[in-house]
Amino acid sequence: MNLTEFNVWLDAIFFALYAIVLIALVIHFLGSIPKGRFRKKFILGKWPEHDHAPPTQPKLLHHTHMFMMILLAISGMYIRFPFFDGGRIAMRWVHYIAMIIVCVVLLWRLWYAFFSKAKDWREFAITREDAKTALGVVLYYSYISNNKPHGSSKYNVMQKFSYEFFLLLMILQAFTGFALVANPILFGFSPRDVLIGWWLGAIVGSTDLAGWYARTAHYMINWLFIIMTTVHVYLSATEDIPVTLDFFFLKELEVTGGHGHEPHRAPVADAPTQAE
Ligand code: HEM
Ligand code: HEM
Repeated sequence: MNLTEFNVWLDAIFFALYAIVLIALVIHFLGSIPKGRFRKKFILGKWPEHDHAPPTQPKLLHHTHMFMMILLAISGMYIRFPFFDGGRIAMRWVHYIAMIIVCVVLLWRLWYAFFSKAKDWREFAITREDAKTALGVVLYYSYISNNKPHGSSKYNVMQKFSYEFFLLLMILQAFTGFALVANPILFGFSPRDVLIGWWLGAIVGSTDLAGWYARTAHYMINWLFIIMTTVHVYLSATEDIPVTLDFFFLKELEVTGGHGHEPHRAPVADAPTQAE
């Protein structure tokens, strides 16, 4: 199979996979009704308790990042499938501007996590305690158990894992994305020459072909983002609405002093009315 055929397959596979993900999320949501979770959260209004509200700076960074990611996904998809006429130049500009902003915001968030006064990288670090809770979290989300285990940090193990995976994907996406720029803007060399030409180009036969591999990888990661972001939005809309409202500055979170999540050492409670 050559790269062009492979790309046609990729389109078919990812569109189908995305439809499956959407159907799976609808089924998952419907599953919360017999399990009693829907009633507990959306009718009785019992949401997890929190001992502090998220600070403002990472929220603003998240939203700038989120907005840029939406622009990147739309403009990127347009570059591949020009779904209306005459937008080619504008959409490329949107992609090029948003890609610079998203990289700046990513570096800013990393600075915030590791070097600012707030230094919250520990909230994302997967500890031994988290590893022990992993199976319990999977059982909770698959409705096998009603106890949602939570370590002592702000995010549960699945959140931490997906946020770290988002970071890894961002780095790969920036790398493969800059590798698509073939203009000689760096002392006669293009970002493509500098990032992949000399090694991948040597392996696959030419810098142009290396660029094709980078484009294919960039496109696949684009879909991983779309799928992961859809699941992320689903979970923020169903797992903890008060945090989501606070996160988007819509309604201040009531801080109760408790963490609200059962520690993983607690016996597994399987009645729908028990802590989830
Ligand atoms: C993080 C920094 C990013 C950089 C540096 C970057 C860079 C680029 C470049 C240079 C192109 C080629 C544009 C052209 O032909 O003029 C491109 C295409 C594309 N980008 Fe990005 N991009 C980034 C992030 C993203 C993100 C986050 C997404 C999706 C969520 C995305 C999706 C796409 C898609 C779908 C294409 C079209 C690929 C194809 O033709 O098969 N990009 N990107
Ligand atoms: C598209 C709409 C999106 C919505 C509605 C949304 C919603 C949320 C919410 C409510 C939280 C807070 C979770 C909590 O504190 O318990 C959160 C956190 C987070 N989200 Fe999103 N998100 C979106 C897009 C994205 C995208 C595209 C990414 C990454 C590529 C992302 C990465 C993260 C990360 C890393 C966090 C951890 C908190 C932080 O950054 O400070 N989100 N999101």
